[in-house]
Amino acid sequence: MHIPPFATEVYFAQYEFTTPHILCASDCETLSIAELLALAGADPAELLDLRLGYTESQGNPALRAAAAALYTGVAPGDVVMLGAPEEGIYLTMRALLEPGDPVVVLTPAYDSLLNLAEHVSGRVNRWPIRPTPGGWALDLDNLERLVAPGTRLVVVNFPHNPTGYLPTLDEFDALIDIVARRGAWLLCDEMYRGLERDPVDRLPSAADRYERAIVLAGLSKTHGLPGLRAGWLIIRDPATRDALINWKHYTTICPPAPSEALAAVALRAHEPLAGRSRALIAANLERAAGFFARWPELFDWRPPRAGSVALVGLNRPSATAYCHMLAREAGVLLLPGSCLGYDDQSVRFGFGRAAFAAALAHYERHLEAGR
Ligand SMILES: Cc1ncc(COP(=O)(O)O)c(C=O)c1O
Repeated sequence: MHIPPFATEVYFAQYEFTTPHILCASDCETLSIAELLALAGADPAELLDLRLGYTESQGNPALRAAAAALYTGVAPGDVVMLGAPEEGIYLTMRALLEPGDPVVVLTPAYDSLLNLAEHVSGRVNRWPIRPTPGGWALDLDNLERLVAPGTRLVVVNFPHNPTGYLPTLDEFDALIDIVARRGAWLLCDEMYRGLERDPVDRLPSAADRYERAIVLAGLSKTHGLPGLRAGWLIIRDPATRDALINWKHYTTICPPAPSEALAAVALRAHEPLAGRSRALIAANLERAAGFFARWPELFDWRPPRAGSVALVGLNRPSATAYCHMLAREAGVLLLPGSCLGYDDQSVRFGFGRAAFAAALAHYERHLEAGR
């Protein structure tokens, strides 16, 4: 069965490992195993003793308990460890949707949140986030119209990739109320939770707000550990959880043992890892704000409220053509908004990497040379 190209990953596969100056990464700066162990105060012998047999399909119980402890009302039994965060999106769509089931997806969206819903149900209504001067807004009246009786699933992602939007608590509760009144499921992708500019703005997890929420979380973004491929879903309903785990038997069966062991270490250092990422983003956002103020004719800057990325207006006929040219000619990588289903006059910037300042300075020299 046909599925569209995963435009974001196709683009990164082409450029990520050959372009020296990355300005659009969504993950935060990573660290070595030795650095991770030191940060968590863990003994390397723990890892050397690890046996490399199959692991439990639902995930290691101690690791599930550590993940559950990040929420207020979640039990270890509600957690399903994944082979990768990305797998959680696939499994959720497979477990919840039949062809023809109505789905509503917040757009623009990380490709699989939209494409897999379309692939499995074939009946997706998009709920576009609205640009405002200098920011973004949710159109809850539109959501009220889009979520009809019989809507099976609503898909959202906060903090949002690519806009960096974060609703207020009132907006978040109003959104959940709309979904709950229709009895729909809510897939809330919380991969960037913990990266709020101001921690007082951190939303409660949807898992702690709504019984029929399925929450996706993981260590790739906030914790800077995408190479671990560690992620989990929270699913309260046992029948849905079992159906999802059955799909998992067809994909990865169980999480990789070394990743589970390192994920358990990382969760012991949850706060220092998240704090390290937030500090990097804050410093890089300051640099970015200065940069965008110097290039108002080229960019329309909308600062993110949370997360590691922002979607920025680009005053060029085609952002796609511009980004390919920039990667080839200047060794600078930006992501065209079109990859994420947005218009072709926008680019995604990512602020979580340690080399952001040097990459931005390189890009600015390139812009000045062409002035
Ligand atoms: C919103 C969102 N969800 C899920 C994922 C998948 O995470 P991973 O690549 O770690 O599987 C990403 C990755 O960019 C993402 O941005």
